[in-house]
Amino acid sequence: MSKLLYIKTLGCAMNVRDSEHIIAELQDEYTLTQDISLADLILINTCSVREKPVHKLFSEIGAFVKEKKPNAKIGVCGCTASHLGDEIFKKAPYVDFVLGARNVSKISQAIKKPKFISIDINNDETTYDFNSYRSSPYKTYVNIMIGCDKKCTYCIVPQTRGDELSIPSQIILNEIKKAADGGAKEVFLLGQNVNNYGKRFSSSHEKINFSDLLKKISDINGIERIRFTSPHPLHMDDKFIDVFVNNEKICKSIHMPLQSGSTEILKAMKRGYTKEWYLNRAMKIRSLCKDVTISTDIIVAFPGESDKDFEDTLDVMREVRFEQIFSFKFSPRPLTVAANMKDKFIEESIASNRLTTLQDYGNEILDEIVLAQKDKTHKVYFDELRSGGKVAGRSFNNFLVEVDGSEELLGLTKDVLITNPKRMVLNGKVQ
Ligand code: 5AD
Ligand code: SF4
Repeated sequence: MSKLLYIKTLGCAMNVRDSEHIIAELQDEYTLTQDISLADLILINTCSVREKPVHKLFSEIGAFVKEKKPNAKIGVCGCTASHLGDEIFKKAPYVDFVLGARNVSKISQAIKKPKFISIDINNDETTYDFNSYRSSPYKTYVNIMIGCDKKCTYCIVPQTRGDELSIPSQIILNEIKKAADGGAKEVFLLGQNVNNYGKRFSSSHEKINFSDLLKKISDINGIERIRFTSPHPLHMDDKFIDVFVNNEKICKSIHMPLQSGSTEILKAMKRGYTKEWYLNRAMKIRSLCKDVTISTDIIVAFPGESDKDFEDTLDVMREVRFEQIFSFKFSPRPLTVAANMKDKFIEESIASNRLTTLQDYGNEILDEIVLAQKDKTHKVYFDELRSGGKVAGRSFNNFLVEVDGSEELLGLTKDVLITNPKRMVLNGKVQ
């Protein structure tokens, strides 16, 4: 009988994909379970981008230890594994192995050797063609690059995921073809800076950039929708915008991580663009693409952020009117440049006030956007059964839409008339 695997995934879409990779490697030996007390192997795929989840890791391991079967193994994977390394064994002796974010392909070795550790951020996984496992038959996540070269001054990712390397296009295209043959109509491309794809490969001599890759993917039979995250505003040149706007398979929603609206703060963050560049790109996309939705990430209270700098962020929100904002208080991360700007740290009460102001304003804008969806018709690709006889999916521009229905709708794209739009979900009727 096959053994049971419990896996908990925290953090970003890259981690979701890494967890799929781990499951794929183990699927001959293990089946997934949602019940920790039955599991033979317990994995936690961690995130270290902010401090809170790192603290939570050790209390979570403590909880696992209480619930687990006596012989069950515990492994810590992902960014916190890269960043804390063998400190994890010292703080949590029950942990059996530690596998960094760039080392997930070694999971089969890790489960066999006691106290196995692999956290090499130079490990090259780009040509590693692994077994497939997909958490959804309707869509597929595909990594197109690993690591990040940007070194934004607040960010720990370059230290946990290493330098940026693009995955050879043939591997990506084969993986998508396989998923499409299995019925997936949507592909979600992943990377820290997807629109910088093709800058560096570890061995191949390919001359291909992100726009070319998108074109090739859109030629694959069966693929109807292409999404990607995250592009970097710096690399949103006219060619990229042209492909985004005019390729009919590319979903018209784009994540444009702003981080700050102040050119001064952007400079201190080493983001490489100004407020004006960002606004110019966002407004160009809005003007060329009527129904586009734009989401963003914003950090408040970066060291040295003045009231005026914060006003600049609100100003960009006013102009762009984001459909979704992921907002965070600055969190100093070990070994980053910004963690050493202690003399410029912003008082906690000011940081909290700014976050509340930003979120309230973001919601005010969102409520107007959501209300305006009433009586509109969206093309929805249904991929999720929900409780209470509901089925959910995403509109082409990424609104979450729910209708009454059952399994028959899964995997289908239907016109849906929005009857009752709410902030978190637009309720509607299939036409
Ligand atoms: N503090 C707060 N937010 C951060 N992010 C990354 N590093 C930090 C940090 N040190 C946010 C950025 C990024 C998102 C994934 O997390 O907004 O885009
Ligand atoms: Fe971090 Fe900046 Fe790279 Fe994004 S682009 S992963 S924020 S260093």
